[in-house]
Amino acid sequence: MKQLIELDINNRVYEVAVDARDLLLDVIRKKVGLTGTKKGCGEGDCGACTVLIDGKPELACIKLAIACQGKKITTIEGLIQEGGALHPIQQAFVDYGAVQCGFCTPGMILSAKGLLDRNPHPTEYDIKHELSGNICRCTGYKKIIEAVEAAAQVWSKEGVK
Ligand code: FES
Ligand code: FES
Repeated sequence: MKQLIELDINNRVYEVAVDARDLLLDVIRKKVGLTGTKKGCGEGDCGACTVLIDGKPELACIKLAIACQGKKITTIEGLIQEGGALHPIQQAFVDYGAVQCGFCTPGMILSAKGLLDRNPHPTEYDIKHELSGNICRCTGYKKIIEAVEAAAQVWSKEGVK
């Protein structure tokens, strides 16, 4: 049986009808229509579906939508800045060639944001550790690490959010 719930996604409240077993990933993509969050393995192994829930990176493919009521969810679409500019982490991924097919990119960027919000001066080890749950089949990771390091520099200078 469906029930109406409210989800706060990117500072906008969406009212959606869900079954108790509906996963947050499917609700975000199919009911809310925000397709930037990707479905890879669907089993909690690849990180493609990473979103921020109350600022913490979480896997939307293993999270029940009903459990996310009253929480603040951020997807990759929520990072776009006023006027449509890319978020500094997104810009760094572009500048450092950290995007190839792009499938892992939203999850990578949200994991990086979760890290930089907590720790604006991460070491290379911190970045590798934080992104260890995000799989990329294309880039070899080096450029991704460099992009996050570059974003961290902008972060500490400009205090970006
Ligand atoms: S799709 Fe969620 S971890 Fe792979
Ligand atoms: S850029 Fe293709 S999977 Fe990472």
